[in-house]
Amino acid sequence: MVVLGSSSSCCSVAIVGAVLVLVLVLNGADLCNGGKTSTFVRKVEKTVDMPPDSDVFRVPPGYNAPQQVHITQGDHVGKGVIVSWVTPDEPGSSEVLYWSENSEHKQKAKGKVNRYKFYNYTSGYIHHCTINNLMYNTKYYYEVGAGHTVRQFWFITPPEVGPDVPYTFGLIGDLGQSFDSNRTLTHYENNPQKGQTVLFVGDLSYADNYPNHDNVRWDTWGRFVERSVAYQPWIWTAGNHEIDFAPEIGENQPFKPFKNRYHVPYRASNSTAPFWYSIKRASAYIIVLSSYSAYGKYTPQYKWLEQELPKVNRTETPWLIVLMHSPWYNSYNYHYMEGETMRVMYEQWFVTYKVDVVFAGHVHAYERSERVSNIAYNIVNGLCVPVDDQSAPVYITIGDGGNLEGLATNMTEPQPKYSAYREASFGHAIFDIKNRTHAYYNWHRNQDGYAVEADSMWFFNRIWHPVDDSTSV
Ligand SMILES: [Fe+2]
Repeated sequence: MVVLGSSSSCCSVAIVGAVLVLVLVLNGADLCNGGKTSTFVRKVEKTVDMPPDSDVFRVPPGYNAPQQVHITQGDHVGKGVIVSWVTPDEPGSSEVLYWSENSEHKQKAKGKVNRYKFYNYTSGYIHHCTINNLMYNTKYYYEVGAGHTVRQFWFITPPEVGPDVPYTFGLIGDLGQSFDSNRTLTHYENNPQKGQTVLFVGDLSYADNYPNHDNVRWDTWGRFVERSVAYQPWIWTAGNHEIDFAPEIGENQPFKPFKNRYHVPYRASNSTAPFWYSIKRASAYIIVLSSYSAYGKYTPQYKWLEQELPKVNRTETPWLIVLMHSPWYNSYNYHYMEGETMRVMYEQWFVTYKVDVVFAGHVHAYERSERVSNIAYNIVNGLCVPVDDQSAPVYITIGDGGNLEGLATNMTEPQPKYSAYREASFGHAIFDIKNRTHAYYNWHRNQDGYAVEADSMWFFNRIWHPVDDSTSV
């Protein structure tokens, strides 16, 4: 049973009765606080990782069979794909054979192979191969493992970049490899809205929660998510569980497993590191930021973002989406204000350039904000409260993928006015762009049926239809 309620101690019974109909019409918004704290009741279960012999971690049969196959966008505009995989026994071939659905003509792309060591672990042979100059909006088949065991997959390239191109993004964060993680991925796969690309907001395998950051858990995670990410790109954001900084065991190079395993097209957007970059996809311009790389003034990330934001042509890509790991607006008592220093540095830019939406993870729960900003403050004026701002993004925390650390259930009270909806349940979301003016967003909790929307909102584009799209009173 779903009960959407809210704390209403500041309202009299009479007022509650009088506005009941209005409240229902306005999607249950609270008149006292800014939004809703869902009272959905879950069965309390411990979140535990799936054991290594689980079927989702199965090693594909055959000598040197490619495993952990995953794809991501390989260029700036969506005509390229990076194909990555691991061969366990020997390097084998780094070539990808690919052909479009309607063609017999098979083409080859040549990749590279590498390995890395982490304490007492040595990785398999990790291959990365970029395929360029693909046709838009086309289904391609591809094969990896030439010479040994060959495995075949497929993907569909996005439509050509343009302002009214519909496109459906999935949102997943902090996934891990627990039984709940598997439920989240299954719900995403079975969602009738059919996401075409996943925007992943960081924290992938949680291998660093194991003794010596047991990198075998990077391998199991790669095999777990292959069933989705071998067929549609996941756009990667680095989270704190990607840092893998462990000087106590001699591992001093941050992000080593992540950098070796997950390549992104950062050079295509003139970035100098794989932790901040941008892509265009259909009608969206997506900027990925790193909460765990330097972002202060004069740093490479700062300089890059400063030059990047003015480049976004909203006539070509109306929807400006930012991904990061640590949220700026978070009313849970977990990771509270961890995103604050980055907010102070960049929030003015997000308002100036009218970012439509910011997706973050890190907090293992769900929250959606109204459009607010907190940029008036200087050292003496005392103006430090978030205010309604129709030029500001909506901030969404979607760190509820289901990892072994469990849910963030403890919230700050009362619910801040800017917080439109919050709920401590595992799930995923869909951002479904219809045209240059409208996008339909919805969040799905794992306990519901695949089509059930636990939270939803029509986004009005900040450039082409900048009218108030708030859901609270
Ligand atoms: Fe995190």
